[in-house]
Amino acid sequence: MPASPLRVLITAGPTHEAIDPVRFIGNRSSGKMGFALADAAVAAGHEVTLIAGPVNLPTPAGVHRVNVTSAAEMYAAVSSNISTIDLAILCAAVADFTPADPAQQKIKKSGQDTMTLQLVPTQDILGSMREPLGFTGTLVGFAAETENLIANAQDKLLRKSCDFLAANDVSIPNSGFESDNNSVTLLSRNGEVFTASGAKRELATRIIDGITTPQT
Ligand code: CTP
Repeated sequence: MPASPLRVLITAGPTHEAIDPVRFIGNRSSGKMGFALADAAVAAGHEVTLIAGPVNLPTPAGVHRVNVTSAAEMYAAVSSNISTIDLAILCAAVADFTPADPAQQKIKKSGQDTMTLQLVPTQDILGSMREPLGFTGTLVGFAAETENLIANAQDKLLRKSCDFLAANDVSIPNSGFESDNNSVTLLSRNGEVFTASGAKRELATRIIDGITTPQT
């Protein structure tokens, strides 16, 4: 048990944005990093609520799991838990856009040569945590980047008012999305905390340590 167990909220996985009752817009996130973080946080003695998008993963022992599908549902689940948490780690790969007007019935292809979908932006959950949601605890974001990793991540950390940001270089083969391995640089407001590559579960322990150990 740590001296003071924290109440931790973690978002994980993709979101699925409905086009019609059988189709959606999604992305390749497996949820493995967020689930590894939930497991590592429980192992460190913290109390964990895991807001999970549609993924095919078992719930880590001791974790309170809330399943959601869309970005709007994830936003609602985060905001309804916000008043009771000390530490928020937003690891989900939330869809940035959602269909403006999802069809109520399955869209038929007959008679259509082209198909145009109108998309509207989803709410940025991480970017809403301080304002308008009023979260005052420790805020950790994730960033998947393919270039200028540190510069893009530092910019994201400040823009979204985070205390820490874990930056993944998704251009590295066998790493990141869907993989059991990852390559992470953890940044604080003071600069780099560590850079490491390896199994997501091992990196999760290092990230939980890095964000719960007071910065000097
Ligand atoms: N995020 C979120 N809600 C969204 C989109 C992103 O909470 N609707 C969170 C992710 O969980 C992650 C971080 O924001 O912690 C990733 O941000 P990203 O989408 O990469 O940032 P952007 O500012 O949209 O930058 P980019 O231009 O790289 O897409």
